[in-house]
Amino acid sequence: MAYEAKKYDGLVGMEGFSDTLLKNHFTLYQGYVTNTNKAADTLAAMAKDARIGTPEYAELKRRFGWEFNGMRMHEYYFTNLKKGGSALAKESALYKKIVSDFGSYENWEKDFRAVGAMRGIGWAVLYYDILGERLFNMWINEHDAGHPAGCKPKIVMDVFEHAYMTDYGLKRADYINAFFKNLSWEKAAEKFEKSAKAGR
Ligand SMILES: [Fe+2]
Repeated sequence: MAYEAKKYDGLVGMEGFSDTLLKNHFTLYQGYVTNTNKAADTLAAMAKDARIGTPEYAELKRRFGWEFNGMRMHEYYFTNLKKGGSALAKESALYKKIVSDFGSYENWEKDFRAVGAMRGIGWAVLYYDILGERLFNMWINEHDAGHPAGCKPKIVMDVFEHAYMTDYGLKRADYINAFFKNLSWEKAAEKFEKSAKAGR
């Protein structure tokens, strides 16, 4: 079954994000969905035609992670945004875990912002390692590589240039401020509780 691009039109009008920037970002995301479907269909057709030993098959197989993760990472990103954002409740399991793993919420935020401000293009991700029961702020470069196995993303921030340059030029820190203003902590806390409870 083909993947369908999800709609995030409810984000249009979010403070700190122009309509142009958001609409271009949605179009870019839709391209990942289209290409994920194309790559999956082509790979299936090649397997059927006994072309799995070919360099073309191998190259497209390598490419699949780029398209798939581009689709999924954008879904995480748009889903964890909400007009005006929402606060992280101090009684939530996520808040308590952040304090326990980072010493304080402030330490965590400082670290996450620093990861997001790193030079280069990529993603800042708050990952939860289910087996080790630990939170990590991670830098994911190009999204086909570098994800920690078995960990679940709880907060995803896009820091590819297309995510902010239209509105902020090189001032990435200002974009990160806008991201935090619209971050839905409620959603992140809910996702964390599900993972912690289910162990997955
Ligand atoms: Fe993006």
